Amino acid sequence: MADVVPLRGHEAAATVSEVAGERAPGPGGGKERPILVLDLGGQYAQLIARRIRECRVYSELVPSSVGVDEVRRRDARAIVLSGGPSSVYAQDAPIVDPSLFDSALPVLGICYGMQLMAAQLGGRVDRTDIAEFGRTELEVTEPSSELLADLPAQQTVWMSHRDSVVAPPAGARVVASSPATPIAAFEDAGRRLYGVQFHPEVVHTPHGMEVLKRFLYDVADAPPVWTPTAVIEDQVARIRDQVGTQRVLCALSGGVDSAVAALLVHKAVGDQLTCVFVDHGLLRKGEAEQVVETFGSHFHVLLVHVDAAERFLTRLAGIDDPEHKRRIVGEEFIRVFEDEARRLDRGLAATEPPLRFLVQGTLYSDVIESGGQAGVAATIKSHHNVGALPDDIEFELVEPLRLLFKDEVRRVGEELGLPEPMVWRHPFPGPGLAIRIIGEVTRERLEILREADAVLLEEIRRAGLYRDIWQCFAVLPAIRSVGVQGDERTYAYPIVIRAVTSDDAMTADWARIPYDVLQTISSRIINEVEHVNRVALDISSKPPATIEWE
Ligand code: XMP
Repeated sequence: MADVVPLRGHEAAATVSEVAGERAPGPGGGKERPILVLDLGGQYAQLIARRIRECRVYSELVPSSVGVDEVRRRDARAIVLSGGPSSVYAQDAPIVDPSLFDSALPVLGICYGMQLMAAQLGGRVDRTDIAEFGRTELEVTEPSSELLADLPAQQTVWMSHRDSVVAPPAGARVVASSPATPIAAFEDAGRRLYGVQFHPEVVHTPHGMEVLKRFLYDVADAPPVWTPTAVIEDQVARIRDQVGTQRVLCALSGGVDSAVAALLVHKAVGDQLTCVFVDHGLLRKGEAEQVVETFGSHFHVLLVHVDAAERFLTRLAGIDDPEHKRRIVGEEFIRVFEDEARRLDRGLAATEPPLRFLVQGTLYSDVIESGGQAGVAATIKSHHNVGALPDDIEFELVEPLRLLFKDEVRRVGEELGLPEPMVWRHPFPGPGLAIRIIGEVTRERLEILREADAVLLEEIRRAGLYRDIWQCFAVLPAIRSVGVQGDERTYAYPIVIRAVTSDDAMTADWARIPYDVLQTISSRIINEVEHVNRVALDISSKPPATIEWE
């Protein structure tokens, strides 16, 4: 319903030092009783669950069809109804189990969730003349409100609605209004029902997190125990429980997810874990070395480093088409990994059980998108479900990140001592630099791109911009043009700078890098990287462009 709001996940994320020293995790490793966010189709539903977790309270996103029995079975502490695109009286508009409102559990309805609560409890919702989209002034009309007390009487909130509640549910009192909506928030403290028309979960509602905290801490009495330390303790126990004394295999990619998953498993079962790092030769400068140094030397993880660059480059020779390159890198990766897995399996003593467990860095967002359930242990036993699995060995998956959002993975990584550059690394495609070289991938082109990319990232880091940018990288197009260096004409490649801001890679805008930083990047690349005589800046948003060039 709303415009896309630029949100930066890490912006509001608690740092590890901030959460250290909080109350000790309770039984269940900080999970305590969950807050269930019922997904009514709003674009911010996942964000609500994330924000609740940023308040150190465990939450899960569940379908809106979840009824009171399921809520009781999960021993939920409170319920949040998300926003959604529908009108409550529309045919097919999602509704929730009305018994939820009589369950004595606290319920917070946000936007559509508030309207739905009003409609299902005998209040009224109407299409008003004035829709509110974006920043809106909210007036707290009841200073004794539980959710809004002691917050400014006038405050800015983010609205996104056409319909409004025109009569609250019987027994509820109106506690805030906005210019277009006399009923912008209501509360029924007796029944523990709360509704807000605005979105407390977005950064454009400056006091939004305080509103959420009041609901969580004061109304629902939820202790803030979901911390990185608690997550680690919980996962370590689960992993030990799952794998016992058996051996575990993990493929490292250089990215943060596989790194954190591997470290969790290593913390749990030590040398029962073997990591295989398939180095396809398509990583950025220094990354392969960093994986080996971090895992091998620093964490003392049993690490098999397979330098397979030659193998990949040979197969990529003469290939222009990006999809074809992707397929080759994917297939080759599986083959190399299979070879290693078989070799390791054969190398096991006859007395040892065969290799059975494989670590997979599945995130909670993947679980949600595939319609899965976070709390359900991974029991998938198939060699078809996962990319990199040998055909003749059946694996059971170990998925220690299955409950975590990306920003939580990063915080757990920090807590586990993963070096900062690995924790905060920009997303990087599996086929690596192969798809950032347009046209054929050759050793020379790889070298040019890798050097230019390293200069670009060094300057972006030096300017303090790295964390504000979603992805920043160099692209090497398959063209050359004329230039002049000294007294000589050159015929060399351009480098394209691609830097975007984004929240989830679905949409993106080009990052406004200051001119002086661009100037330094351009002169350094042209002076330091052979075969390059121009630097260009990509100023396209997504859509219609994409983030990668390919
Ligand atoms: P596009 O270019 O489609 O990219 O805007 C969206 C996000 O996906 C990443 N990406 C890939 N990741 N394998 C990956 O693992 C791929 O083949 C691939 N292609 C694009 C891209 O970096 C961006 O974060």
